[in-house]
Amino acid sequence: MHETRAPVTIPIPDTLGRPLASLRISVTDRCNLRCAYCMPEEEYGWLPRADILSFEELARLVDVFVLLGVTKVRLTGGEPLLRRDLAALVAMLARKPSIEDLALTTNGILLADSAADLARAGLMRLTVSLDTLRPERFVELTRRTGLHQVLAGLDAAAPAGFRKLKLDTVVMRGVNDDEIVPLLEYAKRQGAEIRFIEYMDVAGATRWSMDRVVTRAQILDCIEAAYGPVHALHEETSAPAERFMLADGTVFGIIASTTAPFCHACDRSRLTADGLWYTCLYATHGTDLRAPLRRGDSTEQIAELLEHTWRARTDRGAEERLARGQRQPLVQITDLRRDPHLEMHTRGG
Ligand code: GTP
Ligand code: 5AD
Ligand code: SF4
Repeated sequence: MHETRAPVTIPIPDTLGRPLASLRISVTDRCNLRCAYCMPEEEYGWLPRADILSFEELARLVDVFVLLGVTKVRLTGGEPLLRRDLAALVAMLARKPSIEDLALTTNGILLADSAADLARAGLMRLTVSLDTLRPERFVELTRRTGLHQVLAGLDAAAPAGFRKLKLDTVVMRGVNDDEIVPLLEYAKRQGAEIRFIEYMDVAGATRWSMDRVVTRAQILDCIEAAYGPVHALHEETSAPAERFMLADGTVFGIIASTTAPFCHACDRSRLTADGLWYTCLYATHGTDLRAPLRRGDSTEQIAELLEHTWRARTDRGAEERLARGQRQPLVQITDLRRDPHLEMHTRGG
């Protein structure tokens, strides 16, 4: 039974005046790929099944986040489509009038069979990770086969009726940096907006090094060499992507989290599948929401915990990384093994 409470004053500002507006929910830490920038290790430990929040528990937490001003929800993983009957969760969240934006990030492997169901359940936007169009390279990059499944998923997504379809491409030097233009052309054909992402030194990226990063400037050089000058759209948003337009009107984005972080405008926080709440992608400490939820705390009590934590938020993880100069992988593998919550695939890409 959900209690009602008078809405608190929204939006809630953190110490830098950033509102709590966007929530990323990792619905599972499991993944069916092993992308080199995210899961390069041989073995991983998984969250205990008993700790994974049910759809009802997730929906209850979302209700509390909504009271504090959250209007955007993104479902992530691991690979979110591995969570059984995900469309049922989508439907539960889509029914909430305060959620203006409901999106999903997927690797696309299981998308062909679920795209239509997700759209019908009320999913508004879809982002699919796509780092290569070459089947052999897909296997090298992900240590699994399945590019044809991802492409079939994208074919199914195009007519499914999403408001927007995006592609996310992490560009790695010497791995896929020769596919920037072919991927942009593919996105055009699919009617999708592609974003090129700088390889980030997030936890999980244990093989990260700066010389593997293709910077925003280099990505733009490559695109301008093929298409001529591009036009920057200069939008004021809290989104990580800067958007650009080609002469023919094609829009693409660049997410320069490594060389030009967007922490100053960051309104996002993330919930792991077992209910830890992180206020920064780089945070090493999360707030446990599972315990209050399962011991029966009231909506008011949980709202107070969220509000108190957000108001005290000082996170500027990516900017602090940038200021360090000499950079190495964020977390040592021994620490990752001790606490899988540090992993990008646990806290959502
Ligand atoms: P929308 O604007 O809602 O479409 O989503 P988004 O732009 O946040 O995109 P998405 O959630 O697909 O994230 C794209 C990429 O941005 C991720 O894969 C990360 O590389 C990067 N990113 C996402 N969240 C964060 C974050 O909290 N901090 C930083 N530094 N980078 C992030
Ligand atoms: N650098 C940049 N993006 C990353 N992702 C995961 N690891 C990294 C990393 N090291 C993002 C990618 C991927 C999504 C699931 O998470 O965008 O598509
Ligand atoms: Fe937000 Fe932290 Fe990412 Fe910066 S590094 S954008 S503060 S989550």
